[in-house]
Amino acid sequence: MAERTLVILKPGALQRGLVGEVISRFEKRGLKLVALKMVRLTDEVLDIHYAHLKDRPFFPWLKNGMKAAPVILCCWEGCEAVKVVREMAGATNARKAVPGTIRGDYSMSAQENIIHTSDSPENAAIELDRFFVPEDYCEYQSVLDPFKYSPDEI
Ligand code: PPS
Repeated sequence: MAERTLVILKPGALQRGLVGEVISRFEKRGLKLVALKMVRLTDEVLDIHYAHLKDRPFFPWLKNGMKAAPVILCCWEGCEAVKVVREMAGATNARKAVPGTIRGDYSMSAQENIIHTSDSPENAAIELDRFFVPEDYCEYQSVLDPFKYSPDEI
């Protein structure tokens, strides 16, 4: 069954010229891009997005890092997309992320770890609503679906 998940390409991805590379990985895996935009995040939205981390000592650094340049927000769709995308991202602390994952190939930090990904289908729905309005989603048929999935998977 198709799921949707949020990926935020963090400011470091933009500054380091890795936007195309990261997006390309999700495309090549077979995920479907259904929404994409570039924004500058504000304290207001970051206080909500990272509310579960507000008592952590790194909270101010994490917020500053997310405001240091624009971010790219994208919604990817696919069978079990939340889990697939999270596994492609690798461990939060990029120094522990295995080579072959996005963080394991492009980063060295727990904070500056290239991307944020939703951690569950429930949180993906909440996070997507946080950053996208219904008009942001582009509905189109993915003509290659029969070559990516068996009939019972889609
Ligand atoms: S933790 O430590 O278990 O709460 O980590 P996690 O929930 O996986 O991480 C949530 C986000 O916090 C960022 N993070 C950090 N930032 C700065 N310094 C340190 N030490 C640190 N550890 C975790 C991490 O980049 C996660 O951001 P997102 O946007 O969710 O990837």
